[in-house]
Amino acid sequence: MQTRENELKFSIKTEAADKLRSDCVIVGVFEHRKLSAAGQTLDKASSEHLSRILRSGDMNGQTGSTLLLHAVPGLAASRVLLVGLGKEEEFSEKRYRDAIATSISAISNSGIEQAALTLLEIKVADRNAQWNSTQAAIVISDSLYQFDRMKSKPAKAARLKQVSFCVSKHLESEVRTGLKHGEAIAHGMTFAKDLGNLPSNVCTPDYLAGQARQLARKFGFKCKVMDRAACEKLGMGSFLSVGKGSDKPPAFIELRHDGGKRGDKPVVLVGKAITFDAGGISLKPAADMDEMNYDMSGGGSVLGTFRAIGELGLKLNVIGLVPACENMPDASANKPGDIVKAMSGMTIEILNTDAEGRLILCDALTYAERFKPAAVVDIATLTGACVIALGHHPSALYANDDKLARSLEKAADNSWDRVWRMPLWDEYHEQLKSNLADVANIGGRAGGSITAACFLAKFTESYPWAHLDIAGTAYRGGREKKGSTGRPVPLLTQFLLDRQA
Ligand code: BES
Ligand code: MN
Ligand code: ZN
Repeated sequence: MQTRENELKFSIKTEAADKLRSDCVIVGVFEHRKLSAAGQTLDKASSEHLSRILRSGDMNGQTGSTLLLHAVPGLAASRVLLVGLGKEEEFSEKRYRDAIATSISAISNSGIEQAALTLLEIKVADRNAQWNSTQAAIVISDSLYQFDRMKSKPAKAARLKQVSFCVSKHLESEVRTGLKHGEAIAHGMTFAKDLGNLPSNVCTPDYLAGQARQLARKFGFKCKVMDRAACEKLGMGSFLSVGKGSDKPPAFIELRHDGGKRGDKPVVLVGKAITFDAGGISLKPAADMDEMNYDMSGGGSVLGTFRAIGELGLKLNVIGLVPACENMPDASANKPGDIVKAMSGMTIEILNTDAEGRLILCDALTYAERFKPAAVVDIATLTGACVIALGHHPSALYANDDKLARSLEKAADNSWDRVWRMPLWDEYHEQLKSNLADVANIGGRAGGSITAACFLAKFTESYPWAHLDIAGTAYRGGREKKGSTGRPVPLLTQFLLDRQA
């Protein structure tokens, strides 16, 4: 199993801040020079050592600022990290998350192995200690993530191995629940990130199937992997057409977690897993094509969410479907103008072989009907147009059911894995008309993310359905910070946690 959950350990401590035995106690400072409650405790115990330092002007509490202090007298901890929180009246969810990330990156490459975080006690408007705790675990794990499996020598790992959440006794149980959720989400994100970051010569459809089987073994899920012949029997002509140009055989992965009551309708998660998207015969330009190993991120997020589901033992029935294949140019590949027949019976004119995500998802969405689902959510790096429309902050949310859309919006806000709802109006469906087949696979340049979603909507009329276009949020491109984000594992896990409650 490719998770490294043993690397970072969280715990909860309820001693007063000055009594915390630790390599470093992390304390917030508001602008201008106002110590948080834990900071004031440390200040008293150290005979106002901290106030004196603040008065010296080295740190006045601005966001993003930190100051590491050694040998502060009167404390059990050997160091104190002051972290700026900005103006108290402007403190927000974002500032809380940023302050934690800043603290962790300030100490992750020092000699500090164990840190005590007092920021959880700081009040974030409309949030409780459970939320603070879940977010802290997610942000810390995210800040410490490194991917070095493809380096011949592993990168120097962060020394930081243990973080304690310091809170007063009466918050302990809330914080414990929050930490449990946060750790499960963090492990799921790490799992999804690793899959995303692996290059396409390693992370093939077969490899994904193997990872799903291992997850199933570890957590007791049922797992079925259908090969080309099995998919052919089901009539998945659209899915199978995409993998034809590749020498890597396709795999249709099905995971099942029967945590709910027998007979309770399941939630079905469907994730696009194109392990490399060269575009096919409608070949992509060379620039940034290296990023197209991330085109399996939807499928990766389904597997990552199952990682979290397993750890949490969710009392829900959940099914994960991951159609996996590679989109390559070859003599047997789809050609522009080819017409294929989907599992639903609909015929599709493939005007652009690079619009392949919808071709694999439509058959998975038809296959989902057999589970009589309570809801289906598909997740896909579906369109470049989505990145143009919304940038890299929210995923695009589409839904044929307002209640489902609202619950996803709520889970997105709570988990800080945000979405923005987009329309599926009839007017857009016009763009997908074909005079030769039932539907075309592209709708022109205008509203490209929307017409892609409209294409999927034609296959999801029999159940409540939502679609997340994660092309802008699943990974960061470029040379410096290239890498998977593990999104939308937080959103999906929170959505399932909320349904269980
Ligand atoms: N995987 C891509 C979408 C994508 C592009 C994700 C950039 C992340 C970054 C998808 O299969 C694709 O190629 N879509 C085409 C659709 C077009 C041909 C209608 C696109 O967005 O250009
Ligand atoms: Mn494509
Ligand atoms: Zn693609």
